[in-house]
Amino acid sequence: MSEGTFRICMLPGDGIGPEIMAEADKVLAALGARFGATFVFEEGLLGGAAIDETGSPLPDETLERAKRADAVLLAAIGGPKWDTTHPDKPRPEQGLLGLRKELGLYANLRPVRVFEPLAEASSLKPEAIAGVDMLIVRELTGGLYFGDRARVRDERGLRAYDTCDYTEAEIERIARVAFEEARKRSRRVHSVDKANVLESSRLWREVVHRVHDEEYADVELVDMLVDNAAMQLVRFPKQFDVMVTENMFGDILSDEASMLTGSLGMLASASLGDGAALYEPSHGSAPDIAGQGIANPLAMLLSVELMLRTSFGLTEAADVLAAAIAEVLDEGYRTADIAGEPGTTVVVNTAEMGDLVVERL
Ligand code: IPM
Ligand code: MG
Repeated sequence: MSEGTFRICMLPGDGIGPEIMAEADKVLAALGARFGATFVFEEGLLGGAAIDETGSPLPDETLERAKRADAVLLAAIGGPKWDTTHPDKPRPEQGLLGLRKELGLYANLRPVRVFEPLAEASSLKPEAIAGVDMLIVRELTGGLYFGDRARVRDERGLRAYDTCDYTEAEIERIARVAFEEARKRSRRVHSVDKANVLESSRLWREVVHRVHDEEYADVELVDMLVDNAAMQLVRFPKQFDVMVTENMFGDILSDEASMLTGSLGMLASASLGDGAALYEPSHGSAPDIAGQGIANPLAMLLSVELMLRTSFGLTEAADVLAAAIAEVLDEGYRTADIAGEPGTTVVVNTAEMGDLVVERL
């Protein structure tokens, strides 16, 4: 039995966000009761919902709540309503990026694990993905996402640029996270870059190797160019244990890797830094199915599992939640995104999936 009080800043966001957050809420209530832990929730506005209410995608109040919480749980943000290419208009994504930067969340951990009963839901052959268990470590507060950018009009006409900028210190700290994680797993790190073209990648490679040689010689280190990595992920994904890469490459490769698990609706993530951590599904706000109650809440619930384990040290509660999710899948229950062949599974909606998990806690 673990005990304690944990303050969680909940950010439901946009689209399917509130629907899947409701399931996280249910599950936490059930786990709290069973394990004698008290979860105190403080809700905040973020993304499009925050723009509508306050004009800003990251209101000060939300940032303060996030800073004083023990962990931040985020569902999803964004949607066509706020889509704009206007450089001065607020975008929901700025809320998420601002939060990552302000909380110093430089390490994004995205575990990619195949649930055996879902092997058929992937577009890849079941034998190619069976047994895949990898961790993508994505640098989250540097690179193209935060580099110098602008639109300018000059003698060449209207143009725009984004800069991929990394300091040695930023690369060192994310490399350490990757090597530390590898030590808890199979001790193999693939460092993904584009060192044949980009200067930022050449520094990346140099620094990752120095950190490796000086501190982590017991871990196997393999360099891989990003285009090759994208191909290898679908050719032979089992070769990967930990994959570490810069912000933009990690964004793209983690969406690709999610399909190994059958659905983007299964991929959880933890963003870690020096202070409170943030947990969120890797998927977006799915505006096309928002409001229908059919979204897959499992990536959200797997993010709760990561939070219990990583930020709260509630290992037993996390194990029980993971087992409950596996059990529900074993019994054939699926949301529409992972339904598989008609007649082989029982298709349930968002709330039913949450209830099924809660029943097994
Ligand atoms: C992700 C998302 C975000 C990102 C968007 C919503 C800004 O795609 O977390 O992968 O690009 O980092
Ligand atoms: Mg992404």
